[in-house]
Amino acid sequence: MRSTTCRLDETGTGKDKEMNTEKAIRTRNSVRAFLPKQVDPELIQEVLELSMMAPSACNLQPFRIAVASGGMWRMISSELCELARKLPNQHDIPWELSEYPERYKNRQRKTGFGLYKTLGIERGDKEGRKRQYSQNFKAFGAPAVVFVFTDKEVGEYATLDVGAWMQTFMLAAHEKGLATVAQTSLVAYPQVLRKFFDVPEHMSLVCAISFGYADPDAVVNTYRPQRAPLQEMLVPLQDHMLMQDDEEEEDLDEVYVPVYSGGSREADQAYAASPELVPSPVKK
Ligand SMILES: Cc1cc2nc3c(=O)[nH]c(=O)nc-3n(C[C@H](O)[C@H](O)[C@H](O)COP(=O)(O)O)c2cc1C
Repeated sequence: MRSTTCRLDETGTGKDKEMNTEKAIRTRNSVRAFLPKQVDPELIQEVLELSMMAPSACNLQPFRIAVASGGMWRMISSELCELARKLPNQHDIPWELSEYPERYKNRQRKTGFGLYKTLGIERGDKEGRKRQYSQNFKAFGAPAVVFVFTDKEVGEYATLDVGAWMQTFMLAAHEKGLATVAQTSLVAYPQVLRKFFDVPEHMSLVCAISFGYADPDAVVNTYRPQRAPLQEMLVPLQDHMLMQDDEEEEDLDEVYVPVYSGGSREADQAYAASPELVPSPVKK
């Protein structure tokens, strides 16, 4: 039988006293098996307060959040499970793609196969995959879920602010010893949320984050999908930017200079001090 013993520190919260920003970023991961242990409402409040420090364009903070835990979450979850059995997804923000562009398929497949392999689900095992996917609607056993809404009147840019808030929430939770997983699958039936919460008309449900205490014995929580190398992300310079000082040979490294100043240090300093960048006096 699988043990549910939790290897936490002496505070019983799983909080790592050595945590710092880099460690938090490097060690946060999506957790897909939680212990059946409630999160203290004060701790939820603390993490939410911290998450409010997330940046947003013009400091609009154009999002709203709804937290469900305990009995209320169980009611929401059972309605979501029922709808998921009967209906296709009905996200507020529709999935316009039937499949991802070719350039991303490899990453998608690798991540999916990696997860299923960790769980011992064979490639052709459609039932096994379906069973695993349906766990999304139970938040993988997490005792609490925060749903996030974006203001559709602010437009697409407001979802950037939601993204910044989500990562802030997940890192804040991680720092406090809580595990998280972001889930767009959990927002497939927004009508359920509207039954329980008085969601303003101008708000669209974008995502959810399930959170709680990670099950340290669950094999699924050992899965760590790798990231694409930085090189793959960098936009190369235009050819004419590479032709400097009659250089004939292009050094590949130069194609991907992460930070390109475009000139000498003196030129940069002169540019920074140029009059156009100095605020002009206000005319009265
Ligand atoms: C916006 C967003 C939506 C996600 N939706 C789901 C989801 O519905 N179900 C799930 O199991 N994981 C979901 N994930 C988790 C990703 O699969 C995960 O972040 C990615 O594979 C990288 O793994 P890591 O978070 O462990 O580093 C989501 C992540 C993000 C950022």
